[in-house]
Amino acid sequence: MGRPIISVRGLGKRYQLGATPGHDTLRDHLAHALAALQRRWRRRNGEGAAPEPAGPREIWALREVSFDVMPGEVVGVIGRNGAGKSTLLKILSRITDPTEGEVRLRGRTASLLEVGTGFHPELTGRENIFLNGAILGMTQAEIRARFDEIVAFADIGPFLDTPVKRYSSGMYTRLAFAVAAHLQPEILVVDEVLAVGDAAFQKKCLNKMQDIGRTGRTILFVSHNLSAITRLCQRAIWLHQGRVMRDGPAAEVASAYLNSGIGTGAERTWPDGAAPGNTVVRLVRVRVRREDGTTCEAVDIREPVGIETEYEVLTPDKVLVPNYHFYNEEGVCVFISHDVDPAWRHRPKPCGRYRSTAWVPGNFLAEGRLTVNVAISTYRPFEVHVHERDAVAFTVVDNLSGETARGDYAGKLPGVVRPLLRWQTEVLES
Ligand SMILES: Nc1ncnc2c1ncn2[C@@H]1O[C@H](COP(=O)(O)OP(=O)(O)OP(=O)(O)O)[C@@H](O)[C@H]1O
Ligand SMILES: [Mg+2]
Repeated sequence: MGRPIISVRGLGKRYQLGATPGHDTLRDHLAHALAALQRRWRRRNGEGAAPEPAGPREIWALREVSFDVMPGEVVGVIGRNGAGKSTLLKILSRITDPTEGEVRLRGRTASLLEVGTGFHPELTGRENIFLNGAILGMTQAEIRARFDEIVAFADIGPFLDTPVKRYSSGMYTRLAFAVAAHLQPEILVVDEVLAVGDAAFQKKCLNKMQDIGRTGRTILFVSHNLSAITRLCQRAIWLHQGRVMRDGPAAEVASAYLNSGIGTGAERTWPDGAAPGNTVVRLVRVRVRREDGTTCEAVDIREPVGIETEYEVLTPDKVLVPNYHFYNEEGVCVFISHDVDPAWRHRPKPCGRYRSTAWVPGNFLAEGRLTVNVAISTYRPFEVHVHERDAVAFTVVDNLSGETARGDYAGKLPGVVRPLLRWQTEVLES
């Protein structure tokens, strides 16, 4: 197995909130100033001793975090806002010290953290490239050998000799990524690069990171983009309130995270009296399910996914047709499907409770989040009894292992569907 290239043991980071005048954000400043004003005002109005705020508030941004990363592993770090992801990367990059525990890195580390770290604002793009290379322990000749590649990737040609403080945030990020990716670090630490930059650049970054991963270098990658995580990383660590909730194969961890209720939406039930519907029919429950019967928020792109609706028929003798409308993140209606079960075609439903499920085949939907509107209609005459918008939602996730319609291409694929087509190539002449 060899030795881990990153070892983290019992790592903890405690922040003091409101203890020192060191306020991080404008909001902190304002809140502090306002509290001081209020105290002064109370004092002046003889309201006795002004209540001081109850001691400095502490929070543990990270607590008891331990894991090892082996050379060549590409590890995704996921978790909701404030989970401690950036704090972990800042400690690994030595930008901040841990309060407890220890980190051991056995390789040259390059980090790409939020805009503002890593580059010197007064220096030009060119100077920053050399500075970063030197920090990584590279010689001038080694840096020079990579220089053109970096400039080409960052696409900042005309601004090479401009101080980076005059760069737009997009240019800044492009250069920062190019430097971190091309200076051949043994460990690359990347915090949510994909949040900035346009779609084309995001694609370039993802492909570059995949190339780097293939050359056997180690990557730690924070992202809220679960598709990017499952695509790039074999392994993921899910942080929740500063602790490791789960650490394992990326697709499993991403799915556990989505199913934890943090992304909610895979199941809806309505209490009596609050259910969508009318005197003819009412919804009881809608959920997104797998073939094995489990409710799921994250669906493997290759697996079929079922939308299951339970409903109560209150007025007999109507031909009721449940139908589902699937929308993607851009609000595009991907398709609509009606209940075409031959057993119920043209056949009125007696009063009672029913369950209708539609199966969307695997290797059909594109990755991303889909929301489903659930409706129940009668067609002769046309009448809509129920139309529940955004009844449920789920995320289609992709990965590179096994048979997928993306082949070996790791970037984002446009398109509202992603069918797996049958391909054939014949040699006509050789
Ligand atoms: N300099 C700081 N001073 C005080 N508290 C901080 C500081 N930096 C981070 N925190 C707090 O530590 C916790 C973890 O923050 P962190 O930035 O690591 O979260 P994150 O997982 O990266 O979140 P996001 O997804 O929003 O980027 C949060 O509660 C945050 O408010
Ligand atoms: Mg963060």
